Amino acid sequence: MKTQIVSSQEFAKAVALLRAGETVALPTETVYGLAADSLNPLAVAKIFEAKARPRFDPLIVHPPERAWLEKIADLPQRDRQLTLKLAEKFWPGPFTMVLPKREIVPEIVTAGLDTVAVRISAHPVFAKIVREFGKPLAAPSANRFGRISPTTAQHVSNELDGRIPLIVDAGLTEHGIESTIIAIRKGKIEILRRGPITSEQLSAFAKIRVVTSREKISAPGQLASHYAPRTPLQLIDDVKSFLPKPNQRCALLAWKAIEKDERFIAIHNLSERKDVREAAANLFRYLRDLDALDVDVIVAERVPPQGLGAAIMDRLQRASRGPDRRGTPG
Ligand code: TXA
Ligand code: MG
Repeated sequence: MKTQIVSSQEFAKAVALLRAGETVALPTETVYGLAADSLNPLAVAKIFEAKARPRFDPLIVHPPERAWLEKIADLPQRDRQLTLKLAEKFWPGPFTMVLPKREIVPEIVTAGLDTVAVRISAHPVFAKIVREFGKPLAAPSANRFGRISPTTAQHVSNELDGRIPLIVDAGLTEHGIESTIIAIRKGKIEILRRGPITSEQLSAFAKIRVVTSREKISAPGQLASHYAPRTPLQLIDDVKSFLPKPNQRCALLAWKAIEKDERFIAIHNLSERKDVREAAANLFRYLRDLDALDVDVIVAERVPPQGLGAAIMDRLQRASRGPDRRGTPG
């Protein structure tokens, strides 16, 4: 299959392919997604094939508008008000809610679970395409399974060239990390994946519980070693005290900006002005760049774990665990 990359002006091509039951890679405000008609099991199966994603890992469903929420999710009376408030506040945006599913959502989308993950994207190109299409789109990040999420059309092409028909290019994504995922349980907000909407923001609505990675292992799709570069990644507190091994070729992903340093073949500063939003937006791109250098180790400085910093640390920690060794390769 030949993969075409087009600008957002050619959005009609994407809509036509989606109608034909094909997959297309689309920009969202978080990362690029690989989209297909969520109500068509055969179209959804193509997402799993293109990504080499195991079928037990469920997908996020992206409806065109709020009115779809109760067509795909069956909101329990007890959580209804809170769910609607959160939808009102954070949609469209980088925010996903796991809710009890309705029959209309095919089993393949939710990997057989009785819940469905729902998010409305704020990206103008994604929003236009999904509205034109008129039905919810299933879309995981547009990378091979277990690899770093793509924040440019070129990254998508590096991952999926020849495996999907179309990539819509709208430049760099805004947030650079995937959406925050929550579920509501016993009136509490459980954070299943940290992201651009922080626990500080969510705590205005209910008590918060951050679900630990150990608990998540038992849930599908929450493999601890997602987001893995091929190069081993080592987390450090402060670059000043880092000592390379003899002949070790090192690259640095720095939080406290530095310029040149003999210990490192290459350095990327996440944000010169220590702005976590900028750091999150740069994170996956810089990890890919450093990964491409074929060094022995990528050394990454820890970032302060408050607000969005917690989401960045979550990705770095997973990256430091390396590619998944419990089965399906990345
Ligand atoms: O920002 C994002 O969320 C991007 C853009 C494209 O929307 N999407 C994304 O999808 O990151 P994906 O598939 O790469 O990650 C979604 C995560 C997976 O870890 C999956 O296991 C989890 O959401 N998930 C999906 N449905 C779930 C469910 N019903 N219960 C628990 N976890 C679920
Ligand atoms: Mg993903």
